[in-house]
Amino acid sequence: MNLYSGLLRPLAFRFDPEWVHERAMGAIERGLISVGVPEDPRLVTTVAGIKFPNPVGLAAGFDKNAVAVNQWHRLGFGFAELGTITPRPQPGNPRPRLFRLPEDKALINRMGFNNDGAEAIAARIESSFPKIPLGVNLGKNKDTEAADAASDYAKSFERLKDLGDYFVINVSSPNTPGLRSLQEKGPLLEIVDAMRAVHATKPIFIKVAPDLEFEAVDDVIEVVNARKLQGVIATNTTLDRTGLKGDPNQAGGLSGAPVRTKSNLILRHLRENCDPTTSLIGVGGIFTAADVIEKFRLGADLVQLYTGWIYGGPGLIPQMLTEIIVEMDRLGMKSVREFRTAS
Ligand SMILES: Cc1cc2nc3c(=O)[nH]c(=O)nc-3n(C[C@H](O)[C@H](O)[C@H](O)COP(=O)(O)O)c2cc1C
Repeated sequence: MNLYSGLLRPLAFRFDPEWVHERAMGAIERGLISVGVPEDPRLVTTVAGIKFPNPVGLAAGFDKNAVAVNQWHRLGFGFAELGTITPRPQPGNPRPRLFRLPEDKALINRMGFNNDGAEAIAARIESSFPKIPLGVNLGKNKDTEAADAASDYAKSFERLKDLGDYFVINVSSPNTPGLRSLQEKGPLLEIVDAMRAVHATKPIFIKVAPDLEFEAVDDVIEVVNARKLQGVIATNTTLDRTGLKGDPNQAGGLSGAPVRTKSNLILRHLRENCDPTTSLIGVGGIFTAADVIEKFRLGADLVQLYTGWIYGGPGLIPQMLTEIIVEMDRLGMKSVREFRTAS
């Protein structure tokens, strides 16, 4: 029990989740929250040619509008993924659209890519001084026809290409109608080729849904191989509601503890079937250092979290990093990649 879990979280959880999120973002943006962050050369990880001070990142959706780019390193994150960003600004779905499931250590959201649009967000990143690598997660506007999706991704990429260290083709959010069908080979190749016409080498990752059959994951792998993309992010939120203790019966994507096993199965399938040079970012259901290490064992090069951070609070990342260092000491490891082969 700490200040967060004993006092602040119970208080915050009495209010509307999105309202609390906005207040918390305001405090983070103004630099009101910071923690001591453990540093260790063994946590430094190079992936897709990018050097990360540690391999634990903030997942997409938390800082959709890049308002706290200067702050995330002060909370311990080794990188932050901004967005999802669409070419034009859009309001997202009507509120309420974010729900807590405390009994299940989960959230359901149907935000629907609310964001300020590529131009405003690019200007904001341009006036920031990030101390950690930035991922930039791209999506399509709700009112863009599926057939025109590729040009949406290319347009945002054109404006943002120099402002991120890696880029993400998000084709896995459940809250934009038709988006997930872009995970199929044909549409995905169109998106990748439109982006590669804008910039030939910037690292690009594809973010996949946990609800894909392995055959569908294999199609994504084919695209990654065919176009020599840097990697895959596994996974986004799930539509599956199996096994929930307290289902609020709300439409949207489920995140947190209930998505962990599904995400891990996809991650393992990816590691077993991708080229060893393909980088994998594991996300879904991370609450503890053990959850992080499990993803490293399954083949993740980096990890990210969102829901676990809401439940764990600002002390979580330093605590995780400390525990990972202790475990590396115990096993005599020099890099987190060695977890993959450790018994
Ligand atoms: C409120 C909320 C908003 C999210 N928005 C996005 C988004 O805009 N783009 C995206 O790729 N993923 C988004 N995600 C998914 C997370 O990045 C992550 O993939 C997923 O929640 C699983 O990780 P977790 O269990 O640690 O939350 C969102 C998740 C939540 C809870």
